[in-house]
Amino acid sequence: MDLYEYQARDLFESHGVPVLRGLTATTPDEAAAAATELGTPVVVVKAQVKTGGRGKAGGVKVAKGAEDAKAKAEEILGLDIKGHVVKKVMIAEGADIAEEYYFSVLLDRAERRYLAMCSVEGGMDIETLAEERPEALAKIPVDPNTGIDQAKADEIVAAAGFAEADRAKIAAVIIKLWEVYRDEDATLVEVNPLVKTGAGDIVALDGKVSLDENASFRHEAHEALIDHTAADPLEARATEKGLNYVKLDGSVGIIGNGAGLVMSTLDVVAYAGEEFPGAPKPANFLDIGGGASAEVMANGLDVILGDAQVKSVFVNVFGGITACDAVANGIVQAFALLSEQGKAVTQPLVVRLDGNNAEEGRRILTEANLPLLEQVDTMDGAARRVAELAASN
Ligand SMILES: Nc1ncnc2c1ncn2[C@@H]1O[C@H](COP(=O)(O)OP(=O)(O)OP(=O)(O)O)[C@@H](O)[C@H]1O
Ligand SMILES: [Mg+2]
Repeated sequence: MDLYEYQARDLFESHGVPVLRGLTATTPDEAAAAATELGTPVVVVKAQVKTGGRGKAGGVKVAKGAEDAKAKAEEILGLDIKGHVVKKVMIAEGADIAEEYYFSVLLDRAERRYLAMCSVEGGMDIETLAEERPEALAKIPVDPNTGIDQAKADEIVAAAGFAEADRAKIAAVIIKLWEVYRDEDATLVEVNPLVKTGAGDIVALDGKVSLDENASFRHEAHEALIDHTAADPLEARATEKGLNYVKLDGSVGIIGNGAGLVMSTLDVVAYAGEEFPGAPKPANFLDIGGGASAEVMANGLDVILGDAQVKSVFVNVFGGITACDAVANGIVQAFALLSEQGKAVTQPLVVRLDGNNAEEGRRILTEANLPLLEQVDTMDGAARRVAELAASN
């Protein structure tokens, strides 16, 4: 889960990372009130969207006083930044910036450890810096067992090339940022810019934090960070039911077992769809995993059929430890469960069963004679049929 900047700011503050005061506002009047409450001669009005490059898009503006903050908020609220419409701004104290640096720590999956990155040249587009002058961005591997202790922090600030006189102060902030990363189970903590003020203080002026949702069971407080208003309603419903569901733009609903099979199903359906008018595409990703519970199948169908764009549904199952007969029984019971809930299946379903006990599974489905359900034995054939149904439905 990615956090908004103001949430990262709050998290930083709670771990002792030096930040400036900041208040959120959803209207220009609230922005004016926030500027008055902060009381500094200069404030910065900052778009709160979960994407980078806000400054360049006109989403970060300096304001002098409450009236000016109101005017700047008026300009920023409603702005579309890379497809993210600004609904909230943060009014932050204006910093007296002497220098802008960069620091981040993230999960390096390929190396199975963490990676710290640091540069004396922050503030600008860090991707450009990394590409054009990679030597200006220090990359230091971090052992998860020891993390960023004093020695590691010293190594980072030396590699980044900070002036001797600044190193101790910056290293201390880096250790605090590491504590945020470790204690909150983050996969990314990025500060761009980390600044030195005119008075010589080190302050985190911007923050990007991603939290590992797999660790949410040990962070009750993270629940409150979820932005329910931003979530797709279908995805929210799927999450509620514990389903691995991602909404896509097409009209063919997809259910499969195993993430790999579901991903290749998306490809095969998109490819098959090209033959038909309107080129139907997958409407979602949904992996029901191992097992064949009727409840999971019913929940999956319920979420998919709740998508008004869906014109047909492809159930693609490869029987492994859970054999196809169990999956077939799950499908039959899912139809019963749905009709008990008054949610009859409303769109045609194409089922392909293969693998362990496929014959028996197909027989069960044939005998059940379910409305709107047909079977095709091959994945390519089923993909073609389901695309055809979506195109003609
Ligand atoms: N509180 C502040 N006081 C003074 N200047 C600020 C403040 N916050 C941001 N700035 C200035 O605005 C620039 C851009 O701000 P910020 O880093 O928050 O947004 P961004 O980098 O454009 O957005 P993103 O990080 O999403 O790409 C900073 O590099 C800094 O120079
Ligand atoms: Mg930034």
